[in-house]
Amino acid sequence: MKKIAVIFHSGQGNTAHFAEGVAKGARSVPDVDVELVRAETISTDPDLLLAFDAFVLGSPTYLGGVSGIFKTFLDSTGGLWRNQKLKGKLACGFTVSALPSGDKQSTLNAMFTFAMQHGMVWVGNPFLPEQQRGVPYEHALNRLGSWSGFMAQAGHSNGGNSYAPGDERTAFAFGQNFANVLLRMSAQVEEVL
Ligand SMILES: Cc1cc2nc3c(=O)[nH]c(=O)nc-3n(C[C@H](O)[C@H](O)[C@H](O)COP(=O)(O)O)c2cc1C
Repeated sequence: MKKIAVIFHSGQGNTAHFAEGVAKGARSVPDVDVELVRAETISTDPDLLLAFDAFVLGSPTYLGGVSGIFKTFLDSTGGLWRNQKLKGKLACGFTVSALPSGDKQSTLNAMFTFAMQHGMVWVGNPFLPEQQRGVPYEHALNRLGSWSGFMAQAGHSNGGNSYAPGDERTAFAFGQNFANVLLRMSAQVEEVL
C-alpha cells in the first residue's frame, strides 16, 4: 500500500473543495491510501511527512504566491531538508485563484522549487486542454492549460463559489494520474532493488 498526503491550506473553502476532488481521483486507484492533511496541522509536526510516499501540495494563490499559512508549512520542513529526509518522494501541486491567470504560475513554481530543494520527483498535469477538441470551455479537462500542475478558478471574480465542471474533472484526473505514476514508479524501483 502506498501512501499519499494531500496537504492544503484554504482560507475560504475553495482549495479545500479541490483538495477533496484530487483525493477522490487518487483514491480511485487501488493499493493507494490517501489522507487529506491541513497545512496548519502538519506544520506543528513535520516529521509526520516521513510516513508518506508522495505529496499533493495545494494552496490558494494569494497575491501571486502561496498563502502565508502554506508557506509556514513549507518552512516547517527545514529540519527535514537539512538531512534530505524527503529525497526521492513524489510531489505534485495545484492552486486555486479567482482570476483566469491571477499569477497562479508563481504559486506552482514555489511548490516545484520546494520539491526540488528536498530532492523530490515532480509530477505534472499531463492532459491536453479539451476545448481544442471541441469540448465546451467550462467543461474541458485542463481548460486553464497548465502542465506544471493543476490550476482551478474560483472566488469572487468568478461569480462566487461555483466551480467549472472542467476544473472538477481535472481535479479527479490529476489525482488519479498522480496515484498511477506513484504505483508505476514504485514498481520500477522495487524491480531495480
Ligand atoms: C489575500 C488574498 C489575495 C489574493 N490574491 C489573488 C491573486 O493574486 N490572484 C487571484 O487570481 N486571486 C487572488 N485571490 C483570490 C483567491 O485566490 C480565490 O478567492 C481562491 O479561490 C481562494 O481560495 P480559498 O477559498 O481556498 O482560500 C486572493 C484572495 C485573497 C484573500
